[in-house]
Amino acid sequence: KMSIDTLPDPFKMVEKELQPFSDSIKELVSTDQPVLSMAAKHFFEKRHGKRFRPTIVQLMAKAVAAATPEKMFSDDGKLIAVEGLDESDIEHTEGVSGWEWSGASNIEVEGGVITPENHKGSEVWRRQAQLGQIVEMIHVASLIHDDVLDEADTRRGGESVHKLYSNKVAVLAGDYLLARASVLLARLENTAVVQIMANALESLVAGEIMQLKAPAESLLEMETYLRKSYYKTASLICYACRSAALLGGHAYGSTVATACEEFGYHLGLAYQIQDDILDFTAAANILGKPALADMDLGLSTAPILYTAQENEHLRPLVMRRFKKKGDKETALRALYDSDTAMDKAKALALFHAQRAIDALLRLPRSEARDALIRLTHAVITRKK
Ligand code: FPP
Ligand code: FPP
Ligand code: MG
Ligand code: MG
Repeated sequence: KMSIDTLPDPFKMVEKELQPFSDSIKELVSTDQPVLSMAAKHFFEKRHGKRFRPTIVQLMAKAVAAATPEKMFSDDGKLIAVEGLDESDIEHTEGVSGWEWSGASNIEVEGGVITPENHKGSEVWRRQAQLGQIVEMIHVASLIHDDVLDEADTRRGGESVHKLYSNKVAVLAGDYLLARASVLLARLENTAVVQIMANALESLVAGEIMQLKAPAESLLEMETYLRKSYYKTASLICYACRSAALLGGHAYGSTVATACEEFGYHLGLAYQIQDDILDFTAAANILGKPALADMDLGLSTAPILYTAQENEHLRPLVMRRFKKKGDKETALRALYDSDTAMDKAKALALFHAQRAIDALLRLPRSEARDALIRLTHAVITRKK
């Protein structure tokens, strides 16, 4: 019988490679503005979180090194048939000018093909590791701003940046990190990756705006909830996964790059759904950030949406964002009284985790791929 514990530990597998991460990221965010470097360093030094995103990027980099790149161009530069790609995909990728290079220009190893053996320490590997740092910087920048928007006083078990300093410093610290991340992104010298990651940034902001300004009726829709979750959480992970494949020499429309993105998409959704479940089921001191916070912000996430499907009387409360006194308590009681709402939310997270694993299984077997499977399992069983 196969057990998830027999798969390699994802965090252990890249622990050593992420070790220099803290040191170099401190350097990367250093500035001659003391208050900014203080605020920015705070989150990379004392409270660096679990480095979930760089871990995924690093493992994905290894996983795609085990796959042979599909050839996109013949030697005279003509587009040649690619397995699993049809005309409509080509239409779709117009505007993303990843075609010409298909990432291959970055490959500087003997024979021009990355293998699990020559990958580590190569230029390709270095750029992929840099991508992991960029993604973490974007993530942290968005959390610093998010805590201002959500008026959340704690993060990662301590005071949030705006609480430690001020809103002004938090805005500037987030902006600064984002600016640094953009500089590093440009240094990857891969236009397709720059475009993809710029899209991810746009999605993050779109998700927040959607959350802020959604029309009342849409607040009851599961689809609106999932789309918002894609924008604010899954997009960064799925674009980072596709970028890791591109930097690894895989073409934009290749089976490998698409499998990577699909993995990130479903993992990101599973991650956010689990996050929303934990908002109800975990304590603030375990989470390191406020609990039961979403309803205070007027937000209905999966557990409440399923409860409202079962209880018609909750729907007006959802639509008015729990603004009336007692709304929150009424909704919470209905959720706890329901035998099924929370289970449905858990099943939704499990569904996306399963789809994430299905996507991974389209990559050739490797230690890193199996570690990503275990990581996917950890995402929906995590308690904080
Ligand atoms: C936190 O990211 C990320 C997680 C809680 C998910 C990663 C955790 C697991 C896969 C479970 C394994 C657990 C352990 C203890 C090894 P965040 O973006 O919410 O916050 P962070 O970046 O501050 O960690
Ligand atoms: C956390 O969600 C927030 C996000 C995943 C995205 C926040 C994005 C912005 C504020 C847009 C600005 C972006 C940049 C790059 C500066 P949450 O509030 O549901 O999670 P939480 O419980 O961890 O606070
Ligand atoms: Mg928040
Ligand atoms: Mg938020």
